[in-house]
Amino acid sequence: MSYSIAIDGPAGAGKSTIAKRIAKQLGFIYVDTGAMYRAMALHILRKGISPEDGEAISRACGDADITIRYENGEQVVLLNGENVNGLIRTEEVGNMASASSVNGDVRKKLVSLQQRLAETADVIMDGRDIGTCVLPRADVKVYLTADAGVRAKRRYDELVQKGASCDLDKIEQDIIDRDNRDMNRENSPLRQAEDAVLLDSSDMTIDEVVENIIGMVKRQTDQKGRR
Ligand code: DC
Repeated sequence: MSYSIAIDGPAGAGKSTIAKRIAKQLGFIYVDTGAMYRAMALHILRKGISPEDGEAISRACGDADITIRYENGEQVVLLNGENVNGLIRTEEVGNMASASSVNGDVRKKLVSLQQRLAETADVIMDGRDIGTCVLPRADVKVYLTADAGVRAKRRYDELVQKGASCDLDKIEQDIIDRDNRDMNRENSPLRQAEDAVLLDSSDMTIDEVVENIIGMVKRQTDQKGRR
């Protein structure tokens, strides 16, 4: 039986940075489910479809073949065979991913891909619905959050470091809008699973969060061994 860790939480809470570190330390595969929704969003944007046009999004989803593979431990997302890793990290794609991920056909397709991945390997998977929907029986579940202001500042610093010019207030507003959409959608909204541990990283370092989650895994496996 493979082992699974589910990390859910709002945009910018640090999920992917933390999940990548834990995957490395434990020798697990890191599955970034947001990247799959982003690849689907890129496909939809390329077709010029409006985020409100559910029918066109469902149709577009039918001809998007999304797969992932690993190169030197890094997840590579393929959209109809094309490596799209370098194209999916923009705000435009992120906003479309948030809007198009409300679509039931999009979710069905990507959830089944994610579940298949977790059947064959030990995984740490991050997203919005991992503990509640994709892996309801995950061995460890974490709901990772932080204040919207803190998340916006982290994103701002990241962009500034990359040399981009940006507006902190606009980033914070985007984060708040994205939280609202992700938490209030009808289909698998973002929420803390009943059996997930809440971690607020507002005043924690990355190392502290990583150690905290590895501690949960250790306690859980020790307990399992004693049973
Ligand atoms: O984590 P991210 O910012 O890369 O995700 C982009 C969007 O994709 C997010 O706003 C909502 C959607 N998403 C989702 O609905 N379910 C997931 N498991 C992961 C992401």
